Amino acid sequence: MYQLLLVCFIHFFFSVVLSKNSDNIIIVFSSGAITATKVPNELRIYYNHPDFVQGDSLRVYDVEPKSWRVAKPRFVMQLEGVSAFVKTGLRAPPPFGMDKYYAMIIRNDTSLKRYSDPGRFHWMEDRKSLLENLSLPQLFIPGTHDSGSYQRPGKDGIVKNLTANWAICQDTSIFEQLESGVRFLDIRPACTKILGPCSTYYVNHGPVKMVPMSQVIHDIDLFLNITKEIVIFSVKQFPSGFDNENDHRHFMHYLKKKLSHHIYQHSSAKRGWATPLSKYWLKNKRLIISYTSMDYLDSATFWPGIEQRWCNCREFPTLHDFLRSPAKWNSTVVPVADMAELTHNVGSVVTDLTPLTDNSIRAWADEAGGFIPKWYHEEFNSSANIVAVDFLHASGIVDLAIWWNEKRAQWSR
Ligand SMILES: *[C@@H]1O[C@H](CO)[C@@H](O)[C@H](O)[C@H]1NC(C)=O
Ligand SMILES: *[C@@H]1O[C@H](CO)[C@@H](O)[C@H](O)[C@H]1NC(C)=O
Ligand SMILES: *[C@@H]1O[C@H](CO)[C@@H](O)[C@H](O)[C@H]1NC(C)=O
Ligand SMILES: *[C@@H]1O[C@H](CO)[C@@H](O)[C@H](O)[C@H]1NC(C)=O
Ligand SMILES: *[C@@H]1O[C@H](CO)[C@@H](O)[C@H](O)[C@H]1NC(C)=O
Ligand SMILES: *[C@@H]1O[C@H](CO)[C@@H](O)[C@H](O)[C@H]1NC(C)=O
Repeated sequence: MYQLLLVCFIHFFFSVVLSKNSDNIIIVFSSGAITATKVPNELRIYYNHPDFVQGDSLRVYDVEPKSWRVAKPRFVMQLEGVSAFVKTGLRAPPPFGMDKYYAMIIRNDTSLKRYSDPGRFHWMEDRKSLLENLSLPQLFIPGTHDSGSYQRPGKDGIVKNLTANWAICQDTSIFEQLESGVRFLDIRPACTKILGPCSTYYVNHGPVKMVPMSQVIHDIDLFLNITKEIVIFSVKQFPSGFDNENDHRHFMHYLKKKLSHHIYQHSSAKRGWATPLSKYWLKNKRLIISYTSMDYLDSATFWPGIEQRWCNCREFPTLHDFLRSPAKWNSTVVPVADMAELTHNVGSVVTDLTPLTDNSIRAWADEAGGFIPKWYHEEFNSSANIVAVDFLHASGIVDLAIWWNEKRAQWSR
């Protein structure tokens, strides 16, 4: 046993020493999307290997990385260039299915780089001493678009199938999203009224009612109770039931009643959004609520709305050009959220009724996996702030964000 440990240690030591370029990156993720024609929950890989030479290969194992030499790889591919998006055909159901695989880049029987799990559950706290002087607008923050649209109550049938294609944007609960590393939530509050003020709060996607707001609040509360992570809860649009200032006052009151023990008051943030992370940790108030409408009603508690950059487009090249536009990042002002997703138009929604169609939000998020890590690693790596995606696990965005935050912390020293 002792000898085995020693061998492992020596092997580990050499792998590290032999890794010439610390800028190598391997990200593994899982197509969250399930459509009729694709491998469900397929393990995908994005790698970027600047010191690539012909003959290097990518291999995936399902054993502990230390025993890769004696194990049979589950997937092997000769690399053809510095960077690529790879579909492996292996099954890796989210949220954690991808963690049972180990991907590595091999050269002449030496492991140059291997995938390592960045500890998504408490990635901020784990890097506290590195990140403490950065502010939220200086970070690369993984987020979800329409975070509460992960399930819809109701009976199976045509309506549910339609909303499965066109309204569902995520496939895990708010708690699982946070657990998977998300730190920006995009919530669209709605309420039902019976003559008078709001009686029950929901999360909507446009006009479609998704989950009860109490479920979202519970998950945020629980996550903040059991971690030291910092979360931005962005409420916007208020698609249904919010008619006047009174409705907003009621909702603000409700949020404060449920979450005041976590809310970092806007009035106590002397430097506003430029507040360094260390302050949130010092006060142990780690929830920032950004409120995009009538925040003046209680601007002491609620932070001004974060700008969301939404392309409202249906093609990846258009989305790329939109996200590339300059001057979006200003580390001293307010955070900017890229909505890195495609949007259907009403026409396509009503004409395609096929269940699990390749034209659904799921299928598009699945395709986005081929673009998002590449764009944000190779082009927008220093301009990215909040990046919100559909079907989180299909994007690889969490691991990428963590990797770049480590770089940003080093640059800022
Ligand atoms: C791999 O090993 C072969 C044979 O020893 C050698 O010729 C080749 O240069 C090596 N390749 C790399 C990239 O080191
Ligand atoms: C953060 O700033 C403080 C005070 O200037 C300094 O002591 C500390 O080393 C800094 N931390 C990092 C990670 O740069
Ligand atoms: C809804 O989709 C399921 C497959 O997920 C299918 O079996 C069922 O027939 C569909 N129902 C309707 C009413 O289209
Ligand atoms: C979180 O902690 C607070 C304060 O201790 C407690 O009142 C609340 O019930 C906890 N929430 C959950 C969901 O555990
Ligand atoms: C960023 O903000 C600073 C301070 O408000 C301002 O002087 C600067 O022009 C801004 N830069 C960009 C690129 O918007
Ligand atoms: C980061 O983005 C810049 C362009 O903004 C690009 O020149 C650079 O190569 C990127 N870094 C990596 C590691 O790809």
